[in-house]
Amino acid sequence: MKFFIDTANLDQIRDAQALGILDGVTTNPSLMAKEGISGDEAVKAHYVAICEIVDGDVSAEVIATDYEGMISEGRVLADLHANIVVKVPATLAGIRAIRWFTDNGIRTNCTLIFSAGQALLAAKAGATYVSPFVGRLDDISSDGLQLIEKIRVIFDNYDYGTEILAASVRHSMHIIECAEIGADIMTGPLSAIVGLLKHPLTDSGLAQFLADHAKAKG
Ligand code: E4P
Repeated sequence: MKFFIDTANLDQIRDAQALGILDGVTTNPSLMAKEGISGDEAVKAHYVAICEIVDGDVSAEVIATDYEGMISEGRVLADLHANIVVKVPATLAGIRAIRWFTDNGIRTNCTLIFSAGQALLAAKAGATYVSPFVGRLDDISSDGLQLIEKIRVIFDNYDYGTEILAASVRHSMHIIECAEIGADIMTGPLSAIVGLLKHPLTDSGLAQFLADHAKAKG
């Protein structure tokens, strides 16, 4: 499974990259706003800065909601760097735009996926990635992981090349469960990624090893 980090924070992206396990980055307009990035030029410069840190795909989301607007914004974003993947919402205009981007060699991430039908249409339009939002479904007492399972079955049935990018991953168990189901990629916060390492027996075992080593040394 590939690991993406879901943030626009450059320090966290650097930290994840330094771990040597980072395959890409996803951002969204809320994450950009959280970093105080606003205005077209600042947003573009920030995407380039992210691309210069990570050797992998970086999702950059369009703001336009109409077809023409999505195409013109997406072309600008795709021109910023070879690693940019244009993130487009799962709407009628979005599906049309994904088809256009696919036909013109621009890679896409279909975002805000909350149903198997949305994922199926995005795959039909040639999306590079679909992003089902696990955590946001869990938030409304629905089952985000069940959606990942359904999409896995559908994509395998028809051999779609579209990859399942499990998004809105909130904690380490989501990552484990997405890996069990067979999501191609997960995107989540750094805390969920490093949380995978946490185990009290590792901590106590290491403390014991070091204490015994010190004792033996006298
Ligand atoms: C996906 O690409 C989104 O940026 C993200 O995963 C949303 O996560 P959230 O539901 O924690 O905001």
